[in-house]
Amino acid sequence: MIEQIRQDVEGLDALAILQYVENKFANKAVFSTSFGIEDQVITDLLSRVNTHADIFTLETGRLFPETYYVWNRTLDKYKLPIKTYYPNTQSVEKLVTTKGPSSFYESVENRKECCYIRKIEPLKRAIQGYSVWITGIRADQSENREDMHQVEWDEVNQLIKIHPLFYWTYQDVVDFIKENFIPYNPLHDKGFPSIGCQPCTRAVQEGDDFRAGRWWWEDKSKKECGLHSVTKN
Ligand code: ADX
Ligand code: SF4
Repeated sequence: MIEQIRQDVEGLDALAILQYVENKFANKAVFSTSFGIEDQVITDLLSRVNTHADIFTLETGRLFPETYYVWNRTLDKYKLPIKTYYPNTQSVEKLVTTKGPSSFYESVENRKECCYIRKIEPLKRAIQGYSVWITGIRADQSENREDMHQVEWDEVNQLIKIHPLFYWTYQDVVDFIKENFIPYNPLHDKGFPSIGCQPCTRAVQEGDDFRAGRWWWEDKSKKECGLHSVTKN
């Protein structure tokens, strides 16, 4: 199945890939947006395909004000419903009551606990019942991600993942955003190439890795929150 899809989409541009997903999977496909610059490109492309693809976002409760700004602008422009998932109330209440609001800085274990409660558990609910998960991942975002594939089987979540912008460079994304007047997070113009939760994201310096500003206090090797496990298939 994965091999067949890989062959089918080989050489297709991102719009054609989304059209392919629509033809083959219709309402069994779902796109996740964090309103980052890559996701904004995909939202724009999805709005051009006559699509049934559902869109969701994981609202961790710790996002930047700028993320809410671009979220609103996206709703205004595309009129697409974006289903919003919050963390489980009791889990987040227990976490903050027992460990305070910034436990993620204290250890990798604590950080992963927070990511689990605010992202991973809600993700499981968000992708329930779908066969295909579309994301904005690009290969050159990190060394880890270079080992991924444009089409892959997600063993953890038991569904197919498709990354239509997998071979795009950051510059390709920026050019597309500008040429098509797509709303984007203003933080991207202030040194934030990759944007996650506010307390765990900072600006990068010229020449730094793309994801250097994410969980910057941790080792380079640990800079994934668990949403995207790398499968080498
Ligand atoms: S993360 O794992 O480090 O947080 P990253 O920010 O690079 O991921 O985004 C990669 C892709 O994961 C995005 O293109 C999007 O599809 C998905 N994603 C990340 N964060 C969220 C979120 N909060 N809500 C929905 N999707 C998300
Ligand atoms: Fe918590 Fe930071 Fe993970 Fe967001 S990125 S869920 S604030 S640890």
